[in-house]
Amino acid sequence: MAKIIVTGGTGYIGSHTATELINSGYEVIIVDNLSNSNINVLDGIKKITGIKPVFFKTNLADASETKGFFNHVADADALIHFAAYKAVGESVKHPLKYYRNNLNSLLNVLENMFEKGIKNLIFSSSCTVYGQAENLPVTELSPILKADSPYGNTKQISEEIIRDSIKASTQIKAISLRYFNPIGAHESAEIGELPTGEPNNLVPYITQTAAGIREQLKIFGNDYNTPDGTAIRDYIHVTDLAKAHTAALQRLLNLENKSNYEIFNIGTGEGNSVAEVVRTFEKVTGIKLNTKVVGRRPGDIEKIWADVSLAEKELKWKAEKSLGEALLSAWIREKKYRGI
Ligand code: UFG
Repeated sequence: MAKIIVTGGTGYIGSHTATELINSGYEVIIVDNLSNSNINVLDGIKKITGIKPVFFKTNLADASETKGFFNHVADADALIHFAAYKAVGESVKHPLKYYRNNLNSLLNVLENMFEKGIKNLIFSSSCTVYGQAENLPVTELSPILKADSPYGNTKQISEEIIRDSIKASTQIKAISLRYFNPIGAHESAEIGELPTGEPNNLVPYITQTAAGIREQLKIFGNDYNTPDGTAIRDYIHVTDLAKAHTAALQRLLNLENKSNYEIFNIGTGEGNSVAEVVRTFEKVTGIKLNTKVVGRRPGDIEKIWADVSLAEKELKWKAEKSLGEALLSAWIREKKYRGI
């Protein structure tokens, strides 16, 4: 049974990936500092899989804490690195916090992987590295534009740190997965996005509006150059995204990778506008949302969706769940969490 370290494993994508890994027969070790997640997530994972993963509370941005952690897991076969801050707006206000946390943790993780001989890395990257691409859909070869936020910049710099480290030594192989917009929750509703404070992202805002926690969903702009004027994204069910990690892991462990550092877009390949997301939510749940069109949100791009042909061919993976299924799962999770 291969042993996989999942950093940030109590977070949103980390917990869904840990669940998929356990269900695929891997031994999972979660490390997280719980700065933006809850220890109860481990119980959710246990309810789904029957196994409570081994957990270490460690701040990976701290070099000595990280070294201590790796002394316990030196025999791991691979590491999936999710642990990072992820709020775009906050990163604009507190750039140093973002650079310090997201980059130091990656440096510490890489140094310890080299030291302990842990050979395989999967990194959480983001479609944010493309900015507003001129040509859609974006492929992995689309230009990397200047990042719009410090958060986005940490993803660009992290990809470069990994590329340079791997160029300097063939000891480690890595895959970066560039996620599009992950939404939804596990079908059991035992895990999902942790709702802390007013959500920044569209789908948690929708489900909280439907639950009566937020009065109104603001639609940020209807004057974009898109068919209905609202912005377009590629929304992927978080379970499909989690499965892309097991596919990438298998590729590395089975020595199927074509180079020591590979990058894949992970999306559905389809773009949906904000208005379409709202309409689909209303259709699958039967709930009418209170919405209001307001001005554009600063820093938002107009439209992006993924070309996923490389992931389909090489990882033999494909997103399977529809937008409606993803939105319904987010709503079912919201209801379970709130006891509605
Ligand atoms: N939106 C609204 N109302 C809201 C929230 C969002 O209309 O209350 C709109 C946004 O303007 C955007 C779309 O819904 O057009 C999606 O917004 P999200 O905040 O859900 O997602 P983003 O596309 O902004 O964020 C994504 C990823 C982030 C990543 C970011 C980089 O989810 O992880 O791109 O720009 F960092």
